[in-house]
Amino acid sequence: MGAAQLSAQGITVPAPAKLNLFLHVTGRRADGYHLLQTLFVFIDLADQLTISVRADGQFSRIALGYADEVAEADDLVMRAARMLQQEAGTTLGANIRIEKRLPMGGGLGGGSSDAASTLLALHRLWGLHWPRDRLATLGLRLGADVPVFVHGHSAWAEGVGEILQPVDVESFFALLVMPPRGVPTPMIFRDPELTRNSPALKMASFPAGGLRGLAAAQKQFLAAQRNDLQPVACRLVPEVTEHLAALDQVSRESWFGQGGGISGARMSGSGACVFALFDTEEQARTAQQALPSGMKSFVARGLNQHPLHGEEWATRV
Ligand code: C5P
Repeated sequence: MGAAQLSAQGITVPAPAKLNLFLHVTGRRADGYHLLQTLFVFIDLADQLTISVRADGQFSRIALGYADEVAEADDLVMRAARMLQQEAGTTLGANIRIEKRLPMGGGLGGGSSDAASTLLALHRLWGLHWPRDRLATLGLRLGADVPVFVHGHSAWAEGVGEILQPVDVESFFALLVMPPRGVPTPMIFRDPELTRNSPALKMASFPAGGLRGLAAAQKQFLAAQRNDLQPVACRLVPEVTEHLAALDQVSRESWFGQGGGISGARMSGSGACVFALFDTEEQARTAQQALPSGMKSFVARGLNQHPLHGEEWATRV
């Protein structure tokens, strides 16, 4: 997965997945949205978008690899493009080709990441020169996970996921296992049994920056946390329980296992994907080979920076 590439067809940009290394629900806003504390990191598993400018103000979409039909009007990519056009007051439009590799309903933020990469690419192609915060605020209207992709650094997140503090997580490889069906996010958040009052942690409790034994400290910290959405997803979707158990079986060498956690594996976001983190690619691949046959899995590298967060993009956004 590279950064942006320009060609005669337009600009090609990746839209990487995220993982929530932990996720606590600490409260609920008056509008029903949940207050969270979570740690977002990116991985090098990505959708890909190719976007070119249209002078006539219209939009077109070519959608490849979608597991389910998504109407153009509901597609977060097209909603992002139209919203940016309206807010910017531009007369330009775009042709957008989406190649989907990330699962839908996986908890990997695929739709949000596609929307964020669309905003970043169109912002550049249309020459808008907005501050990054303005683009992230617009992205928040599309979904709570969009701002972290716009800001482009792994982050400790609060609020509904939009109050972001960049953090560096030690390098890792993730083994991801994807149950055959996805989990709809609203179904998890509206469940009456969801824990909604986890005590808030202090961000300073996350071990970072120049500490000796940083990797061990981060593993220990993360192993002691959890994903509050996981018990609900396990109850509503038995495949999540089954895939977690299978991944846990092969993940005692994983970060959560080494850190003393009760399980080596954890769910990302509202599921259904589950993951385990390893120090090396070899450990992740060895664990992958020991999974029951027929389980869909990927090995991916952890990234502290979104691939579009480089110099070139930073000066333009
Ligand atoms: O923001 P996103 O579109 O991903 O959220 C989907 C649904 O999940 C929301 O409509 C809301 O019901 C629920 N949600 C929530 N609290 C959050 C994020 C999502 O209640 N922080």
